[in-house]
This record gives sequence, structure tokens and C-alpha cells, in this order.
Amino acid sequence: MAAEELAVPRHIAIVMDGNGRWAKKRFLPRFFGHKAGVDALVKVIEACIERDVQHLTVFAFSSENWKRSDDEVSALMGLILAAVSRYLHKLHRLGVRVRVIGDRDIAPKLKKAWDEAEALTAGNTKLQLNVAFNYGGRWDIVQAARRAAEAGVQAAEITEAKLSEFMALRHAPDPDLFIRTGGEVRISNFMLWQVAYSEFVFSDALWPDFCATQLDAAIACFRNRDRRFGGVKESA
Ligand code: FPP
Repeated sequence: MAAEELAVPRHIAIVMDGNGRWAKKRFLPRFFGHKAGVDALVKVIEACIERDVQHLTVFAFSSENWKRSDDEVSALMGLILAAVSRYLHKLHRLGVRVRVIGDRDIAPKLKKAWDEAEALTAGNTKLQLNVAFNYGGRWDIVQAARRAAEAGVQAAEITEAKLSEFMALRHAPDPDLFIRTGGEVRISNFMLWQVAYSEFVFSDALWPDFCATQLDAAIACFRNRDRRFGGVKESA
């Protein structure tokens, strides 16, 4: 089936923004927004499985998030670790394969948890969940170029297809649909290489409020788009 005729995106990428504002609206510390964000993520994973989405990539922690206060960074690390331990077996039962993209070496405890999550779920095929952690789109392009050079790829051999073999998401098709919640209209260094022909949907919902209804609205938007991939429709 041609990509432009897809009823359901094969691959959805999400910037889960708005946790802090969700908490602020409730006079709660930002941490509670992130905690509610984890619950929203689990529900969206289930909704993606029900809708037969094959790949979901979420921005959990960017290379730039280190600029936040030490307290928030360490609370987020603790929360992610707790979320992996709380939900991993559930995700495994649901048939989710977890993969982490990003430079995980920076946080040894989390690295161990990510390694275990990947090993446990390696045989699952229902949904490929890519968690972008300590990830940036520019980092990805740089690490791909570096690894290609290390592998002995010559300048004349460098093509888009060749470089794609070294990108962090080499196992997944490019996202058909890119969703950002929280009302901001920007990419924030997420998947710069892969979103070349993605359809963008920006939702005003704060991430903890994002649920199956909003996901369906974003998919409905996607279905109404006229994807041409730089070409021209024959009827035009
Ligand atoms: C952006 O909201 C959100 C984040 C930086 C963290 C998102 C992480 C999670 C939901 C946890 C994911 C967990 C796993 C295990 C994958 P913000 O803080 O920028 O919100 P604001 O714009 O309202 O301040």
C-alpha cells in the first residue's frame, strides 16, 4: 500500500510536552506532571497497539534537558527508572519491543535498566517502542557520520541510504505522523533526519491529558493530509 494511502500511520513520533504546566495548573511540583506523563504514555502505548500502529517513538529526555535544575533532572531519572521497573513486564505481556535511542552511557543505573528492557522484549513484535533518552536529532546525525567513518565508508559511498544504515532508528521506517503536545509549534531537535516527509500535528493538550481520543483526532488529521513526498498528484 502506498504510504499516502495509509489508514493508520505505521510509525508515530511524539514530543510529550506540557507536563510541567499540567502540574503548575494544579499547584503541584513539576515532578507530578512527569509522573502523570508516564501514565499517559502507557495509555497511548495501549491505544497504539489497539489501532495496529507498528512503531512508536517518544522523546523521554533530550540532550538539552540537562539544562534543567539538578533536582528536576534527578527526579526525572528516578521516575524513568521507576517507570521501567513498574511497567516493563506489562509492556512485555502486551508484545511491546523496547528499544532505546540516544547516548545511554551517561546514566549507568538507567543504562542497566534499558539494557535489560531491550533484552527481555527483544522477541516481541506487536509494537516497536523507541524511547529517545539523552537523544538529540543533531547528535544522531553526528554519531551516524562518525560510525560510518569508523566502518570505513568512503566519501564517494556516502548516500542518504548509506547514512540511514548508521542512524539510531535504522530498524524503523521514517515516522508517518509527528505529534507534539503542549501547544508549542517546534521540533526541538527531535528526529531531524527522519521527519523529512512526516505529517505534523500540534496539539494544545498538555501531555498528561493526551489520551486515545486525541490520538484518534491526530490520526484523523493524518488521513486527511495529501502526502506527495515532493511529487505531484496525477490529477493535478
Ligand atoms: C516535557 O514536558 C516532558 C519531558 C521533558 C519528560 C517526558 C518524560 C516522560 C513522560 C517520562 C517517560 C518515561 C519513560 C519510561 C519512557 P515539560 O517539562 O517541558 O513541560 P512544560 O513545557 O509544561 O514545562
